[in-house]
Amino acid sequence: MTESSDTPLLEMIDISKSFGGVQALRGVDFSLRAGEIHGLVGENGAGKSTLMKIIAGVHHDFQGTMKLDGKPVRFRSARDALDAGVGMVHQELSIVPDLTVAENVFLGTQPKTRLGTIDWRRMVRESREHLAGLGIHVDPTTIIGELPIGLQQLIELARVLFSGARIIILDEPTSALSPPEVELLFTTLRRLRDSGRSMVFISHFLDDILSISDTVTIFRNGQKVITSPVAEIDKRQVIEQMIGIGHRELEESYTGEITLDTQFDAPVIMETRGLSHERTFQDVSMQVRAGEVLGIYGFMGCGQIELARALFGKIRAQGVLTLDGKPIKLTRTSIARQEGIAYVPESRRSMLFHHEPLYKNMSISILERISRMLLKPSSEREIARGHIDNLRIRTPGPDQLLGNLSGGNQQKVALAKWLTHAPKVLILSEPTRGMDVGAKEDVVRIVRGLRDKGIAVIVVSTEPETVLSLADRILVMKKGEIVREFAGDTVSKDRLLEAA
Ligand SMILES: Nc1ncnc2c1ncn2[C@@H]1O[C@H](COP(=O)(O)OP(=O)(O)O)[C@@H](O)[C@H]1O
Ligand SMILES: [Mg+2]
Repeated sequence: MTESSDTPLLEMIDISKSFGGVQALRGVDFSLRAGEIHGLVGENGAGKSTLMKIIAGVHHDFQGTMKLDGKPVRFRSARDALDAGVGMVHQELSIVPDLTVAENVFLGTQPKTRLGTIDWRRMVRESREHLAGLGIHVDPTTIIGELPIGLQQLIELARVLFSGARIIILDEPTSALSPPEVELLFTTLRRLRDSGRSMVFISHFLDDILSISDTVTIFRNGQKVITSPVAEIDKRQVIEQMIGIGHRELEESYTGEITLDTQFDAPVIMETRGLSHERTFQDVSMQVRAGEVLGIYGFMGCGQIELARALFGKIRAQGVLTLDGKPIKLTRTSIARQEGIAYVPESRRSMLFHHEPLYKNMSISILERISRMLLKPSSEREIARGHIDNLRIRTPGPDQLLGNLSGGNQQKVALAKWLTHAPKVLILSEPTRGMDVGAKEDVVRIVRGLRDKGIAVIVVSTEPETVLSLADRILVMKKGEIVREFAGDTVSKDRLLEAA
């Protein structure tokens, strides 16, 4: 082994970073060698993106030392980092939808002619070549926003992969890609590695991480837990390090086994057979029974959010959907509502009326404006007062504007109306995201109350804790398909992660 391969290309020493009161990174050491693919894993919020944004020049106020080729550096901007050979593909897509494919591939680095104008012919020719290298055959003069999202993501990747950067950081790049596209990407990454480039690859898909990386680093709660050659660690060990088995805090949040209280004899309310939607989910067959909470768990981008939307007619899926045994076509959300299907989306903003008082938001009339005449404001207020007490909504009273409530209390309001106007099926997407522990417990209680009224509840989430605390039965989705069911037996956070 030569001496140079032992000196890290990039070294991060004792890095700390906070955002206001949030300590995102605490004393992190991290190093990257020339010609390696370095996998980075950790739960949401562990600090992965923050460390990578420091390396890529996005965040510049941090504590600690960063060395490139053994020399201390500090980038002041992403441009600075790029000039030093560090490129990053961010978690959020950053293409410019109104520009052509070629312009996006060369964003900020357009080739110039000898006259100093943009060399369009070269741009089109080279972007066509770059993209072909990734197996993408698309006319570079197409407006990128008109292409499918997976293609847009590949083109964004192509921009950084072919920018000539020595260090390439990919932050969850595969979430919108189909399996063949992931294979193409991996082939390209291996080729770049063999030419001496270094890559950091962040992903929730542990199988992907373990197959593409040479080295893996695990983050937990703002700290680096371990760095290991991939050959010396397996999936089980990665999961254990990620969630920190033995941690008291995490044990309280269902690290241990829980037993699912699955009902097997209640009537089936909703059923799907072979439900598919373009690239987002395929061949989903499932049932949900009266008085049951069905949890659907999967990583971001695995199709569960789209499935929830399809069950409410927000997007149109192929396949069979039955309600009370009768096939229905959900071509519009209004049909779903008439049939007794209710949906509380992950962004509750779209469902609630922030400038209206609480009591109106708790009433069905705000959704079904036509039937507004059916309820007198006085009775609406009366019902609302009852909910405020029962659901422990922190507010002075039913006339308070909804916008003045905290997120957790708004969620309780969003759920309240279904207590008086029970739907047949209630679909909840990320029902406890971003809430404190107290509000989460209240939401769990409310959802159990709805279930006990005989409602078939479907809870879709990317957070294991959410499905573990709510569900009587759990389906795990992976890359658009249901891969596992937990029913009537024990389940734990690590087993969910392992299945996903
Ligand atoms: N720009 C920001 N402003 C405030 N807080 C942030 C910002 N970016 C990240 N954080 C917080 O820092 C922590 C680490 O986040 P992040 O690095 O994005 O984690 P990961 O990529 O591992 O999911 C989280 O608590 C997150 O909420
Ligand atoms: Mg991140």
